[in-house]
Amino acid sequence: MCGIIAYTGHRPAVPAIIRGLKSLEYRGYDSAGLAFVHSGRLHLFRAAGKLQSLEQKLAGGEVLHATSGIGHTRWATHGLPNEVNAHPHLDVHLNLALVHNGIIENYQQLKTMLSDQGCTFRSETDSEVLVCLIAHALNHYGSILKALAWSMSQVHGSYAFALISKDHPGKVWAARKASPLVLGIGTGENFVASDIPAFLPFTREVVFLEDDELVEMDSGQWNVYQASILEHTLKKIHHIAWDVQAAQKGGYKHFMLKEIMEQPKVLTDCLAGRIDHKKNRIILEELEDMPVPSRVQVVACGTSYHAGLWGKYVLESLAGIPVNVEIASEFRYRSLIQEKDTLYLSISQSGETADTLAGQHMVREHGLPVLGLCNVLGSSVARGADRVLYTQAGPEISVASTKAMCSQLVMLYLLGLYFAQSKKNLDSRALNKYLSFLNELPDLLQAQLPQMQIRARELCSRYSRARSLFYVGRGIYFPLALEGALKLKEISYIHAQGYAAGELKHGPIALIEPDVPTFALALENDLLSKIKSNLMEIKARSGPVLALTNPGVELDADERWELPKVIDPLNSFLVLPALQLFAYEMAVYLGKDVDQPRNLAKSVTVE
Ligand code: F6R
Repeated sequence: MCGIIAYTGHRPAVPAIIRGLKSLEYRGYDSAGLAFVHSGRLHLFRAAGKLQSLEQKLAGGEVLHATSGIGHTRWATHGLPNEVNAHPHLDVHLNLALVHNGIIENYQQLKTMLSDQGCTFRSETDSEVLVCLIAHALNHYGSILKALAWSMSQVHGSYAFALISKDHPGKVWAARKASPLVLGIGTGENFVASDIPAFLPFTREVVFLEDDELVEMDSGQWNVYQASILEHTLKKIHHIAWDVQAAQKGGYKHFMLKEIMEQPKVLTDCLAGRIDHKKNRIILEELEDMPVPSRVQVVACGTSYHAGLWGKYVLESLAGIPVNVEIASEFRYRSLIQEKDTLYLSISQSGETADTLAGQHMVREHGLPVLGLCNVLGSSVARGADRVLYTQAGPEISVASTKAMCSQLVMLYLLGLYFAQSKKNLDSRALNKYLSFLNELPDLLQAQLPQMQIRARELCSRYSRARSLFYVGRGIYFPLALEGALKLKEISYIHAQGYAAGELKHGPIALIEPDVPTFALALENDLLSKIKSNLMEIKARSGPVLALTNPGVELDADERWELPKVIDPLNSFLVLPALQLFAYEMAVYLGKDVDQPRNLAKSVTVE
């Protein structure tokens, strides 16, 4: 969480930093700040609240003339989200300024050590301790590079930071450990940032930094060192193919809506090059020579976890491979029971989620194979896995994940078909049928989305006063019910609970009342008759029912929302956007901040 950016180059630094922070605001928006060197001193601007408050404070000639600096947008971990705790933080002598993302776990010990040496602190943050530690080391070593290397050896936890010094205008230092940081290489200018969109309008050439790497850069050059031995490291420059528009709103009111509406394209992009139509085969080159696993263990969080649960149904039914799905924050602290031929599957949009990464590290430490299902090129999950399947959703900016889940479902479906094909579980007629439906999906969804948005808008006013909502489904729709509930609560702040419809009668049905409606996923499949009975149980207790269903399905509901019938599980690719649009329209109707819901951040890089 938190977004950091540093710039050094030929253009005015402050607008470049502010622009970068705008694209990083999805990582946190409790407070923001920036610092730069001008006329031999450090200038600091900070404000509580969103970036707008910082922009209102920027004044003075030096703001126009600075050509290097650092910026930060915060998601509070240590200390209240006020101005004093906002970044950048300065050392006691006002020589150094630092922005930090992550958690310094031993900051209390370091703070005590530094206080004993006469250091005083203004904020409650662990980040101020880090800049004071670096200043303390600088006193001793006389070189910033050495001071940084030593300080990095002293701190425990995760960090990505950028630092400037009053005595070295135009220079920037940055380093990372278990928090994302990328270097943007321009012409006569260089950047470091938590994520690529922060500098994408200026350069597409990026260097992915590894843990314990330290960068020293100015406008004309950049060098990466391995911090522990202070030795120069050669790095590969990657070219980013996606363009700036992909990370902008493109005429939509919110990123979330844009990303929901992009799902037909996501389907097309995910399928591109994956189907050999002549041979009627799935192509997953990344998995070539990999034996078909006997079991799959999925590790993920949030929406990615729901995608994993959906994948369980698909992999088990198509390929006959048993799948276990676990929330990463639980998995990482459990004893790892090693089962023969198990494939560990880390699912993560950002590829930077701390719990998912920790689970993945644990598996790798035991020498077991990890497949990453990941959206962000060069992210920590991608780099730490043995093999990666990229999900091709393009940059996802909205805090609430939408199109990334669509891409995860496509890749999981392809994975199920691929394993089924390798195990010869699937005859070519069946495969043909699935593939032809898959190919029709993008156009079908494209045609449906406008009506779906209208229906979502109609319905949300009716349910906006609900005290709480149940989302219920069975089989493949159970994970989607969980996802529908998550989307609703995170952006509209209405409490919602996803449930396996058959489980309701084991306790939660006690909560059914006229102001607790149920959103039922009651689409045509083998379990339809079962869910119909569950809905009758709800109606018998005066619970209003909104049913997402197919034309011609008879059921007991107060409201119907009909989607065209598609074969299972591909129906999910219509159900998912319907759920997303309902949550979106509800949040808009209630006047909530859709793209930046309270208390949340896009990538959860802390435990
Ligand atoms: C919900 C949401 C989160 C993420 C979760 C995992 O809309 O966005 O629940 O899905 O934080 O993030 P990734 O997939 O980046 O590991």
